[in-house]
Amino acid sequence: MNLKDKINKDRLPEHIAIIMDGNGRWATKFGKNRMFGHKNGVKTVRKIVEASGEIGLKYLTLYTFSTENWNRPPKEISALMDLLVMTIHKELKDLNKNNVVIKVIGDIDRLNKKIQSELRHAIDTTKNNTGLNLVMALSYSARWDIIKAIKKIVVEAGEGKVVQDDVSEDFVEKRLSTAGIPNPELLIRTSGEFRISNFLLWELAYSEMYFSEKFWPEFSKDDFYGAILDYQNRERRFGKVSEQL
Ligand code: IPE
Ligand code: IPE
Ligand code: MG
Repeated sequence: MNLKDKINKDRLPEHIAIIMDGNGRWATKFGKNRMFGHKNGVKTVRKIVEASGEIGLKYLTLYTFSTENWNRPPKEISALMDLLVMTIHKELKDLNKNNVVIKVIGDIDRLNKKIQSELRHAIDTTKNNTGLNLVMALSYSARWDIIKAIKKIVVEAGEGKVVQDDVSEDFVEKRLSTAGIPNPELLIRTSGEFRISNFLLWELAYSEMYFSEKFWPEFSKDDFYGAILDYQNRERRFGKVSEQL
């Protein structure tokens, strides 16, 4: 029996978030430049999006470019941006055919105009689809998002639309860029790093964490299914004791 068939459809996570890490180190291992790694990372994205569709996942969030990644050498940033435009341009037709809904979270205004319009086009083209929601975290960091939410709340309070007792978890959640998206049950990070790197700090409060030693370009569908199987063998207690579940 292959790994995919071992997945229990009744206990499938609704939302999986991935920190796709290790493109550069993977390329260096083969004596190639970092962009070679990013290009091969795109191939993995294609495979994992396909795998998500095959198992009927509802939401897949991919950490694609972080706020902190703006501090990389300008050459790598611009090559990454070019790769992003090219990839969206090339993949949109297939994604649309496969019923994928494209969503973006992050500080999009910092991206160049060409990417912004490419993204808007992709979002608009796929908005009525009903399959996998592919959420790309672009120019995103959780602290950026939380600060943005706080600013909104301050404005609403200033206008007298909000009082102290209105502020609840639900209230805050509605003001994050992930509003309307369920919290991820599972977070996967590749490349053997054990950190969150400013990703979804609020939303990951009770997510199960799965760390893979594989670099992102070598992460396979079976690695992905393996992470889901690992998740399905865990007991999620949410502060309670086993007997209460
Ligand atoms: C992840 O791979 C992709 C992005 C952050 C854009 P890296 O570029 O971080 O690769 P490593 O971690 O340096 O190997
Ligand atoms: C996190 O990876 C961001 C993305 C995968 C887009 P990084 O490679 O930027 O994270 P750090 O700097 O190693 O924590
Ligand atoms: Mg990295």
